[in-house]
Amino acid sequence: MDNAPGRHHLFVPGPTNIPEQVIRAMNRNNEDYRAPAIPALTKTLLEDVKKIFKTSTGIPFLFPTTGTGAWESALTNTLSPGDRIVSFLIGQFSLLWIDQQQRLNFNVDVVESDWGQGANLDVLESKLASDRTHTIKAICIVHNETATGVTNNLAKVRKILDDYQHPALLIVDGVSSICALDFRMDEWGVDVAVTGSQKALSLPTGLGIVCAGPKAIEASKSAKSLRVFFDWNDYLKFYKLGTYWPYTPSIQLLYGLREALDLIFEEGLDNVILRHKRLGHATRLAVEAWGLKNCTQKEEWYSDTVTAVLVPPYIDAAEVVRRSWKRYNMSLGLGLNKVAGKVFRIGHLGNLNELQLLGCLAGVEMILNDVGYPVKLGSGVAAASAYFQNNIPMIPSRI
Ligand SMILES: Cc1ncc(COP(=O)(O)O)c(C=O)c1O
Repeated sequence: MDNAPGRHHLFVPGPTNIPEQVIRAMNRNNEDYRAPAIPALTKTLLEDVKKIFKTSTGIPFLFPTTGTGAWESALTNTLSPGDRIVSFLIGQFSLLWIDQQQRLNFNVDVVESDWGQGANLDVLESKLASDRTHTIKAICIVHNETATGVTNNLAKVRKILDDYQHPALLIVDGVSSICALDFRMDEWGVDVAVTGSQKALSLPTGLGIVCAGPKAIEASKSAKSLRVFFDWNDYLKFYKLGTYWPYTPSIQLLYGLREALDLIFEEGLDNVILRHKRLGHATRLAVEAWGLKNCTQKEEWYSDTVTAVLVPPYIDAAEVVRRSWKRYNMSLGLGLNKVAGKVFRIGHLGNLNELQLLGCLAGVEMILNDVGYPVKLGSGVAAASAYFQNNIPMIPSRI
């Protein structure tokens, strides 16, 4: 048994806290997915999911998979083996995606930055400038690198593509951004965007959500990559028939997604984004008050969904995470790969409020003292709560 009293403080950057309403909505028996209720439900989901991508022309696909499967779906439906793509390596998740791109036999121009920096868009610019014959077929970029807490500027990527009138597809990993950070598929000309249910949507893992714009759908008609389970065309055939599913969906996740979207729309997507801005800002204020550094090297890349906190070299950041779990019933994120032992991560995304975050920050202060980095108890909490006091709006339904 592994019981601890009270609520567990889940502060990893996914999987995130599932709201009670969503848990209750999913607590149901299986149903026949061919009976009319499930297609009717699916129809509403496909319409409403477009809103979180901020698209009116994109077509969403709800794959029974994770973010990794959603990546594969985005790539194999739009590209052919040997196609040249430009991909930015800035942390563990972009690294894993590049590994997938290479294993799928694309010809990847890897543009590497220090972990803690954003995508090097100067290199993108020079690559596009010299690619007069348009050999580059796609730009792949992680909007929010969850390993380092770095958010890339997608509007800038679109501008560079437009400046060079380059037709490459823009394929975006929005796994730890969509529904938490400002994301505008249509406005930024994103051709394919993907996310996973266990991040900002605050659902269990198991849905890989892919949204394909018109240019990507067109590309899928001639893309030669082998695909079966993730083939958009199979879904599109069933969309036309109004039955929606080429194979069995998770009934419970569909009801969960309905409830999750309802909660998000009730709060208002823009308010959800503002809430994440507050959570991110308050976390950074606390880190500063502790005298620690953010792994993210410049303000322009600060992430409002995850903060990777650098510890001094004489501290093992993994011990912070272990201690948190063993003594304080809290989960923090480990540093991954190149930053293992050097950072611990505070995930502040999904169904989470300001007072919950203050609990986390109070816990981190005790843990830091425990592991030998002295901080004044309450210093980070004071900085964060002073900011919250001036910035938390009234709850709209309770005014
Ligand atoms: C930015 C990003 N992309 C992709 C993934 C992979 O998603 P999954 O673990 O759901 O396959 C993750 C997982 O944390 C992620 O943070």
